[in-house]
Amino acid sequence: MTTMPNASQALIMLGAGGHAKVLLSLAIACGLQVKGVCDPALKRSGVVTWRGISVLGGDEALEQLDCSNVGLINGIGQVVGSSLRQAIYERAVGMGFRFPVLVHPRAIVDASAVLADGVQVMAGVVIQPDVRLGANTVVNTRSSVDHDCSVGSHVHIAPGATLCGNVQVADYAFIGAGATVIQGLAIGEYAVVGAGAVMVRNLPARSILLGQTARSRIVPDEST
Ligand SMILES: CC(C)(COP(=O)(O)OP(=O)(O)OC[C@H]1O[C@@H](n2cnc3c(N)ncnc32)[C@H](O)[C@@H]1OP(=O)(O)O)[C@@H](O)C(=O)NCCC(=O)NCCS
Repeated sequence: MTTMPNASQALIMLGAGGHAKVLLSLAIACGLQVKGVCDPALKRSGVVTWRGISVLGGDEALEQLDCSNVGLINGIGQVVGSSLRQAIYERAVGMGFRFPVLVHPRAIVDASAVLADGVQVMAGVVIQPDVRLGANTVVNTRSSVDHDCSVGSHVHIAPGATLCGNVQVADYAFIGAGATVIQGLAIGEYAVVGAGAVMVRNLPARSILLGQTARSRIVPDEST
């Protein structure tokens, strides 16, 4: 199930925003060859290269590629309320393309973890034994997924989030930056754990969990 690209496989990036930049950095760190980028905004702007890579066109450029010869990287980030990342993945898979698993060389992934196609594991991540990650899921910078967690497809575990052991995460859920989910809990489909929240009860599908936000105050200027 875990299909890592080999260094000779040509890879094409879809999208050219912030998430794509991070993935390009990951690919370079792995010694992988990203041969081109497809992005409608780059095409419209008329530029021919992006970060040293050829701009192949917009979404329609996929039709000119041979799905048996290239692997794709989903460079569209997953933000709350947008399904673009998922839609692009599903369209390309429907055309016969595959998205190899990408793991930053400075991530720790236990050998028993199972990563489905399109999973992206960024720098500083720790994935512990018997974790399962579904297709097109992002485990973002410096987050951790502890033993026996089962994470569905199209999930985003944002930077610095912590899933303790044996957490069950359904498809399309979003775990915000720096959130902590204690052991054994379940997170429903499309549920959102807000950035910084501490989750101590199960979270039903399509619900949002908010923690406490920090408050600012004006410090009086005593120098006058
Ligand atoms: C939870 C979240 C989706 C809510 O977004 P939203 O619906 O646009 O929320 P708003 O900014 O309109 O804020 C609505 C209220 O919720 C509060 N709130 C928003 N996010 C919060 C959070 N993470 N924790 C606690 N309270 C939060 C706001 O302070 C505001 O409160 P108020 O009405 O008392 O002023 C979003 O704030 C969040 O945490 N997203 C995750 C971001 C992230 O992890 N990004 C990683 C990118 S790689």
